[in-house]
Amino acid sequence: MGLRKDFLWGGAIAANQVEGAWDVDGKGLSVADVATYKPKVDVKDYRKQVGVTTADIDAAIKTKDTADYPKRRGIDFYHRYPEDIELFHKMGFKILRLSIAWTRIFPTGEEPEPNQAGLAYYKAVFAKMHAVNIEPIVTLSHYEMPLALATKYNGWADRRVIDLFVRFCQACFTAFKDDVKYWLTFNEIDSVTRHPFTSAGIIPDQTENLLQTEYQAFHHQFVASALVTKACHATIPGSQVGCMLTKLTDYPNSSDPRDVLASFNKNTMNYFPADVQVFGEYPALVLNYFKEQGIEITMAPDDLAILKANTVDFVSFSYYMSMVSSYDDSNLTLTTGNTVVGGKNPHLETTDWGWTVDPVGLRISLLQLYDRYHKPLMIVENGMGAKDKLTTDHHVHDDYRIKYFKEHFEQMIQAVDAGVDLLGYTSWAPIDLVSASTSQMSKRYGFIYVDEDDLGHGSLNRYKKDSFTWYQKVIQTNGADL
Ligand code: BG6
Repeated sequence: MGLRKDFLWGGAIAANQVEGAWDVDGKGLSVADVATYKPKVDVKDYRKQVGVTTADIDAAIKTKDTADYPKRRGIDFYHRYPEDIELFHKMGFKILRLSIAWTRIFPTGEEPEPNQAGLAYYKAVFAKMHAVNIEPIVTLSHYEMPLALATKYNGWADRRVIDLFVRFCQACFTAFKDDVKYWLTFNEIDSVTRHPFTSAGIIPDQTENLLQTEYQAFHHQFVASALVTKACHATIPGSQVGCMLTKLTDYPNSSDPRDVLASFNKNTMNYFPADVQVFGEYPALVLNYFKEQGIEITMAPDDLAILKANTVDFVSFSYYMSMVSSYDDSNLTLTTGNTVVGGKNPHLETTDWGWTVDPVGLRISLLQLYDRYHKPLMIVENGMGAKDKLTTDHHVHDDYRIKYFKEHFEQMIQAVDAGVDLLGYTSWAPIDLVSASTSQMSKRYGFIYVDEDDLGHGSLNRYKKDSFTWYQKVIQTNGADL
């Protein structure tokens, strides 16, 4: 069988991790602009270490420094996008996933009119993409909401942010209705409880009942996602809107039924935001969890009807690794993963950053998601962060990366052969960029090497790694030659 003929091969990036130009052309400060360089994240203290405090924000607002705030400088995609898109084109990309920085369009989130310079910038980026036949898939919120909405409203904790977000999205739909057909609402929407600030603008040390607030923020994002889906369909006929989940595939640590139950519960909570966006209602098991935890969601009278009437067209997800769960955490060896800490599977190798490498887990994830949702799927992030070495003649021999992708593609194709409807695959990331969690450049994901170190030194020149030519061949043969 193999992949569909029009399979959407490509790569994925996010504005705050590539653009730089953090204070250019009217852009406002985003939550990403206050994230500092954190090279040493300790497993035991993960959530706290990647989090942000009021003191951190106050210090960040006062400085124009970019050395310690790497997302402010990114890889200068803002100015170098023509060159980068040409390179993606050379690899044969059919699609590029990128995000629109809310703060380029509405710098504080509350301006009466959109910033024309911001709209013009993305218009030019999309024009360049279309000139080389690359279809955009746009994430509307990828860890980069206006900082002003975090400090003023505690981010998505406040219902008023729904309207502000819908207004931003509507401005994008109106401006880009001829340019963009595929849209994603919230990147890794499930991450609100792991990264309340990055994901939802919630400032933990100003929040009384954090758990309650996080679930309230989820609810606001669900309503916003439904309203935005409706607006997108109304403005752009034929458009496709997807949800985006971090697929945190979890296995039982052993066949002890208590471990199986613990793992089931982990997966249930991971699926929950996508469940709401796909089925248009809260799952009974999650409502019961709310009851047990004393979580009470405040809803407006129409909210449930809005959710039910505006579900997503497809399900997209990131997949990097799997973890194991036990009824008793002392049975586990912990390791870090994609925005999580969890039990390490002894059968799997890990990357330099402790993330397990589990290609079969990708196949399992595809089967699970398709079986659950019966909707077309898209893999919109998958890849490995590694310490690459640039040779003196500007090569990177990244056979480890080729191996990683090859093994994942083999499993992906087997899932498709088993009946999964898969629309496309965008690697994270096709070009080296600033890491979301640690803000490192040295955690490299790309097929393209960017000459920039963790402190921002370097020529910013782009060099093709060995994996560049390999991925080009994979796309050319639609996955037949791995
Ligand atoms: C996902 C995010 O969680 O993982 C990306 O959507 C991120 O923004 C990617 O970059 C890899 O994580 P990290 O922390 O290694 O950059």
